[in-house]
Amino acid sequence: MEVKLLSGALGAEIKGINLKDTSDNNFNKINDLLLEHKVLFFRDQKITEEQHLALAEKFGPLETHAYVKGLDKFPEIVRIIKAEDEKNQWGENWHSDVSYNVKPTKAVIIKSIKIPPVGGDTCFSNMELAWETLDEKIKEKIKDKKAIHSSLGAEFFIDNYKKMEGNGKKNYGEYSNEHPIVRTHPETGKKILFVNWTYTKRIIGLDEKESDEILKKIFEHQARLELTCRFTWTENTVCIWDNRSVIHFAIADFYPGRGLGHERIMDRIAVEGDQPH
Ligand code: SIN
Repeated sequence: MEVKLLSGALGAEIKGINLKDTSDNNFNKINDLLLEHKVLFFRDQKITEEQHLALAEKFGPLETHAYVKGLDKFPEIVRIIKAEDEKNQWGENWHSDVSYNVKPTKAVIIKSIKIPPVGGDTCFSNMELAWETLDEKIKEKIKDKKAIHSSLGAEFFIDNYKKMEGNGKKNYGEYSNEHPIVRTHPETGKKILFVNWTYTKRIIGLDEKESDEILKKIFEHQARLELTCRFTWTENTVCIWDNRSVIHFAIADFYPGRGLGHERIMDRIAVEGDQPH
């Protein structure tokens, strides 16, 4: 096995692990690597949808997305499509997937299907390191507090993207839930900064002005480049991220002459998480 680190902060590209092998022994190896590096990349993986699902199921029960319709044959697979003539793409700001749910996603297993010749990299940031390196005064202020996370509604996930389809549920409003700002990782026991620019709206117990000021500082801190890694996709890459301990950002740098006019397609499977504590 070969492990190539993507940066000093997090992320590793792995060679020599067979993702079709769903034995406990192989899964434990992958999970140990995930806990250590937080996001893993495996290039040249010609796995079928069934094999993609079998790999994801090793991490736990699968989730269906709050708003988005999965594939007809495989409802747990959400096909994320940036159409040829779209500038924007799904996930183009820092976030942790569905952090507005009572039980936000544990892990995401995503496979690149179609990748533009230029543009569309994804960045990840390490929220364990973000907590460790956060200003001590801010830490003291927020360490026992909770924050409100709200979804931005169906429009954000579906109506903004031509080729994305809703799941037909009637209740398309916002979901809002409270989570501790510092959560404990259920497998490693490490402290993690659990807020994100896209969904975290308010620190409970602070007035609005102070909450806004502190969140702004935290969001700037989380995005510091020395906490991040950046991955340039090739087709048939499988990526697994620990959604409890990273935030991510899919860069929408589709400018004329530099990749605009190309489709980008990813197949995403999410694994159910637990309630942050
Ligand atoms: C996401 O934010 O879930 C999608 C990531 C990507 O397409 O790179």
